[in-house]
Amino acid sequence: MDLYEYQARDLFAAHGVPVLGGRIATTAAEAREAAIALGDGLKVVKAQVKTGGRGKAGGVKLARTPDEVAGRAGEILGMDIKGHTVRTVLIAEGADIAEEYYVSILLDRAERRYLAMASVEGGMEIEQLAVERPEALARIAVDPLAGVDRAKAEEIVSAAGFRAEIRERVVDVLLGLWDVYHGEDATLVEVNPLVLTDDGRIIALDGKVTLDDNAAFRHPDHESLVDHAAADPLEARAKALDLNYVKLDGQVGIIGNGAGLVMSTLDVVALAGEPYGVKPANFLDIGGGASAEVMAAGLDVILADPQVKAVLVNVFGGITACDEVANGIVQALRMLGDAATKPFVVRLDGNNVEEGRRILAAAAHPLVTMVDTMDGAAAAAAELAHGS
Ligand SMILES: Nc1ncnc2c1ncn2[C@@H]1O[C@H](COP(=O)(O)OP(=O)(O)OP(=O)(O)O)[C@@H](O)[C@H]1O
Ligand SMILES: [Mg+2]
Repeated sequence: MDLYEYQARDLFAAHGVPVLGGRIATTAAEAREAAIALGDGLKVVKAQVKTGGRGKAGGVKLARTPDEVAGRAGEILGMDIKGHTVRTVLIAEGADIAEEYYVSILLDRAERRYLAMASVEGGMEIEQLAVERPEALARIAVDPLAGVDRAKAEEIVSAAGFRAEIRERVVDVLLGLWDVYHGEDATLVEVNPLVLTDDGRIIALDGKVTLDDNAAFRHPDHESLVDHAAADPLEARAKALDLNYVKLDGQVGIIGNGAGLVMSTLDVVALAGEPYGVKPANFLDIGGGASAEVMAAGLDVILADPQVKAVLVNVFGGITACDEVANGIVQALRMLGDAATKPFVVRLDGNNVEEGRRILAAAAHPLVTMVDTMDGAAAAAAELAHGS
């Protein structure tokens, strides 16, 4: 789960990483009150969206008076930043920035360890810096068993070339960030920019944190960080039904058993649909031993997506044989009744396939077309989605 900046900021504060005062607001009037509560001085109004590049998109603005804060908040609220609508702004104290740095700790899956990165040239151009002058971004491997202790933090800070006068303070920040990373079970903790202020303080001005969902059971308090309002309603419904569903942007609803089979079905449908601009509408894996109920629940979620024009059911019978799957599909269509209105292409193969196909043929459901091969089924589904 990715966190909003203000949530990351709260975690930083809880783990001793220095941040500036701030309050969130969802209306211009609330923003004005937040500004008054924060007291005199420069403020910054920041769009809270889970995507980068907010500053360049006009989602980060300075303001002085409460009226100005309200004005800027009014402009930023409702803005669209890379497909994310701004519903909340953070009103933070403004900093007088002398220098901007970059620090992060993340999970390096390929190397099966953690990676710390740091640069004395932080700010909004960090992605560009990483590409054009990779030597300006220090990359230090972190052993997961050892973590970031003072010696490791000193290694990171000196590799990045921080000036001697501020090294100790940046080391302390890194130790605090490690505490966030390890203590909260994060897979990413990033600060860009970490700033040196005119009066010599080191402060995290922006924060990005990704928490590891697999560790959620260890952190009941993280439940309160979930943004239910922003979740895709179909994904929320699928989650409630315990289905592995990811909403995509196309027209062919896809349901299959096994993540690998479903992934390759997405590829084949994308290829078959290319001439018509037809794409997969979702990923949905109903798993190995899927019952008729699970099949019905999956179809129900897929059919609730108004973008879906046709559905492809791609099942390879294994432990659950094809005849059980076929019975599941027939029962699911019966359970759905009038809710099933879109054409279905079913491709069955594997264990006991003849019986499975016989059952589907005997049911002769008017919406169902059977196709024996995966390529053929993808082509048929893409054409149906295009035609309807
Ligand atoms: N509290 C603050 N006081 C003064 N300036 C700020 C403050 N917060 C941010 N800024 C300035 O705005 C710039 C952009 O802010 P920030 O890093 O939060 O957004 P961003 O980098 O555009 O967003 P993202 O990290 O999502 O790409 C910073 O580099 C900094 O110069
Ligand atoms: Mg930033």
